[in-house]
Amino acid sequence: MSANARKTAPLPDDIRARKGGVPIVSLTAYTTPMAQLMDAQCDFVLVGDSVGMVLHGLESTLGVTLDMMILHGRAVKRGLNHAMMVVDMPFGSYEESCEQAFRNAARIMAETGAGAVKLEGGVGMAGTIAFLVGRGIPVMAHIGLTPQSINTLGGYKVQGRGAAGDALLGDARAVADAGAFAVVLEKVPAVLADRVTQDIAIPTIGIGASAGCDGQILVVDDMLGLFTAFKPKFVKRYATLGAQAEAAIAAYASEVRARAFPAPEHIFADTQPEALK
Ligand code: KIV
Repeated sequence: MSANARKTAPLPDDIRARKGGVPIVSLTAYTTPMAQLMDAQCDFVLVGDSVGMVLHGLESTLGVTLDMMILHGRAVKRGLNHAMMVVDMPFGSYEESCEQAFRNAARIMAETGAGAVKLEGGVGMAGTIAFLVGRGIPVMAHIGLTPQSINTLGGYKVQGRGAAGDALLGDARAVADAGAFAVVLEKVPAVLADRVTQDIAIPTIGIGASAGCDGQILVVDDMLGLFTAFKPKFVKRYATLGAQAEAAIAAYASEVRARAFPAPEHIFADTQPEALK
């Protein structure tokens, strides 16, 4: 069934069932209008903690809070009729204990209407994933480059090259066995992404991974050319909206300075036209 023909949002089990089928389409969103623009095309929309860097000007995702994720989750949900919404659990909201993870994931689910949460980590987070799934919270896992761990990973490097590939495969197997319904593979060699995709029973969602993954995700502001501070190699810009916005703002500024805006069609007469009386 095409995304356009779908009547209701898919459930995590519907996404799981797409393993090996038509590739799953997803993007991030942080606001209602952007969610509305992508709703008909996406199978799921991720309210990513990338919101911290993309919309709030933070240097990394580490400063993103649970309240920020809930606020943006609520905004995105208002823009969705067809796509499932997944909300990221921010740094510090789930690592301490299974109970902490449940408490915060439950808040996200209850206060945003999300269909699932996403959290970063492989073998080390498998217990937490099983705990959440066992208590009714669908979990999407995220392995490979996990931006919340940049300080231990030593930056935004490709993960799982060479001998490290086996450990990454172990992470993928661990989150699948724990009950995650899908797993994001970020910034890993294409050959490893294909190996993981063939090995595990849940869909892989690639970002900087491989076209062989079961689905793809990009940060929407990256692919629209709205976020231009830097461009990871794995981003394809499908538009240059940032440059268009800059040009529009410059045109507005020069028209205001020249008193060319507002023009007669933008201002109001002191009396109503006869026809409208
Ligand atoms: O926060 C985010 O936007 C993400 C995607 C890059 C997968 O986790």
